[in-house]
Amino acid sequence: MELPFAESWKIKMVEPIRKSTREEREKWLAEANYNVFQLAADHVYIDCLTDSGTGAMSDRQWAALMMGDESYAGSRSFYELRDVICRLTGFSYVIPTHQGRAAENVLFSALIKEGDVAPGNSHFDTTKGHIESRKAVALDCTVDEAKNTQLEVPFKGNVDIKKLEAALEKDADKIPFIIVTITNNTAGGQPVSMQNLRDVRRVADKYNKRVIFDSARFAENAYFIKTREEGYADKSIKEITREMFDLADGMTMSAKKDGIVNMGGFIATRHEDWYEAAKKFCIPFEGYLTYGGMNGRDMAALAVGLDENTEFDNLDTRIKQVQFLASLLDEYGIPYQRPAGGHAIFVDANKILSNVPKEEFPAQTLTIELYREAGIRGCEIGYILADRDPITRENRFGGLDLLRLCIARRVYTDNHMRVIAAALKNVYDRRNEITRGVEIVWEAPLMRHFTVKLRPLG
Ligand code: F0G
Repeated sequence: MELPFAESWKIKMVEPIRKSTREEREKWLAEANYNVFQLAADHVYIDCLTDSGTGAMSDRQWAALMMGDESYAGSRSFYELRDVICRLTGFSYVIPTHQGRAAENVLFSALIKEGDVAPGNSHFDTTKGHIESRKAVALDCTVDEAKNTQLEVPFKGNVDIKKLEAALEKDADKIPFIIVTITNNTAGGQPVSMQNLRDVRRVADKYNKRVIFDSARFAENAYFIKTREEGYADKSIKEITREMFDLADGMTMSAKKDGIVNMGGFIATRHEDWYEAAKKFCIPFEGYLTYGGMNGRDMAALAVGLDENTEFDNLDTRIKQVQFLASLLDEYGIPYQRPAGGHAIFVDANKILSNVPKEEFPAQTLTIELYREAGIRGCEIGYILADRDPITRENRFGGLDLLRLCIARRVYTDNHMRVIAAALKNVYDRRNEITRGVEIVWEAPLMRHFTVKLRPLG
């Protein structure tokens, strides 16, 4: 008999979690103004809010933590981290930052000015925020296939090369760099193929432009290249990683994802001029150059995390768990962005709560229903997150309306996946009874989803 698949690790330390009653959840939801960001984490049974900073470190990482060098300048832990990054990416200049958005803040302060255009695949919210707050444009050139959740294509995170070329043709002098997010979080944790990265490089070279990778989930991207793209099955994740970064000029990194640490990030580049320019902003915004926003111990744990998470078995365990959850949803007929992404399942709320008008936020309604059902916290990646149009102030209903269920790395077991799927099925089975959604009572002018106050209708 063939042995079944199993995790590539065993558990050394556990953290209790607690179920709640429906009455308790009803009360907590009302206190949170029906916004799951406002819930106390202790009131959550299974937390799928994000895969960012929520992973479980390995024993080797915890051991490295104890060895961290907290020297203000010249910390040994910095050099360890720099060496690992250099080995994995080929970039020799490294600036640590406290998380991914801080890396964006430091690098973009040096590179972006008013009136610029930064084309790429779907920019993450903070990336977009750091571009737009500098009065520049984040131009989304993602392939159109990403908008159809039911289309099964292997690299739905790709950049549409025609759209990119058109942007360069039109605005070459306003473009400081092209930015490619690997994997494409906004499109559903969808990967970008090596061929697409090569095509981006070719276009960039033609127009003499540089390329940045937003690399939060670069290792998962390498896994998908290995398992889905022709010619890569026999290459190691580290070889693929190096080949990807050979096509870029620099990277911003949120180490809270594929670095498997709870906090941290960095900038890395092969260009001295970018390093020199970014340095000037690192010191006032983050800290001295050999710690940026990080503790020595956290840099030490990150160096180990990066090395571990560029090994196939670790990634295989993780992605197979996300795919296991997807297979259960397939069994129950629940629609999600296909194929399953690297770090999360993005449930297509519009297709499920088709009786809830878009003005009443179907994905947010589904998020609330799933919490009500079983204390599972996902998050809306939809119309509330999309904010209002800055000029007309109308809600932006043009994109997808999804419930994102993120899976933390090395935290939950497949039994938890079964609970998530069953709870979602229970909501799905009563979908036709759900005819009303929510209305906004109060919202912030920008990034409203974190603090929005809602009221249930009907
Ligand atoms: N880039 C991508 C692709 C991200 O997904 C994130 C964060 C960032 C940059 C910013 O990094 O949080 O360390 O400042 N994504 C988290 C998420 C918050 O839930 O998807 P950060």
